[in-house]
Amino acid sequence: MNIFAHRGSSGFYPENTMIAFEKAIDDGVHGVELDVQLTKDGQMVVIHDETITRTTNGAGYVKDFTLHELKQYDAGGWFPYPSMQRIPTLDEVLRLLQPTSLQVNIELKNDVIPYAGLEEKVVSIIQEYNMESRIILSSFVPQSIQKVSQLAPFVERALLCMENQQDPIEQLHKYNANALHCHYRLISPSLLERAKALHIPIRVFTVNDKDNWLRMMELGVDAIFTDYPLEKKRGKASGDV
Ligand code: G3P
Ligand code: MG
Repeated sequence: MNIFAHRGSSGFYPENTMIAFEKAIDDGVHGVELDVQLTKDGQMVVIHDETITRTTNGAGYVKDFTLHELKQYDAGGWFPYPSMQRIPTLDEVLRLLQPTSLQVNIELKNDVIPYAGLEEKVVSIIQEYNMESRIILSSFVPQSIQKVSQLAPFVERALLCMENQQDPIEQLHKYNANALHCHYRLISPSLLERAKALHIPIRVFTVNDKDNWLRMMELGVDAIFTDYPLEKKRGKASGDV
């Protein structure tokens, strides 16, 4: 079972910041997950919420700031273990991850704000970095996944599914995805059995507790997303998990 650092190693470092991604590399994960949105001037930035209010010392929508304006804010001071951080661009994060062998799950965060041209920009930058073979693009918006399948059929595409998703495999086929990223409460033996028969990877978010970690391992999911990769890896190495 592979381990993806969710928003970087975000249990101990401020989510979606360079230090959280650097820590994920040190933690020896198989992959990292990050969220991407667009600024007012069309730059790709790595941030989860549509506003900067929760994770910076500023307030307002990402889409209403230029990149230069966003870079003025501290994205690390809000965290229990603060460190001065800036909201990174996707370019900065890919520059860090390109020399590693990690898989990179770029979540197109477009379910609340339908950023025009986001898919094209993301596909273009992963081609610039020659990272097509180890990128997974995901979204809660199935039409966005379908669009990526036309723009970049060679890049893996994952449909994000919450716990109330009706027949995720049917959705995957309908929108031309090739993997499922599911909330852990959606996972059942029958879903996994069907997915395995069809060679569909199932990755599960966000697993931060030991019981669900064990359950997912036993059920045989392909990967989990966690905020605490190191703690869980230590547990596994000691026979704890
Ligand atoms: O990609 C898995 C997970 O990140 C989806 O939910 O809200 O944490 O982006 P969220
Ligand atoms: Mg995400």
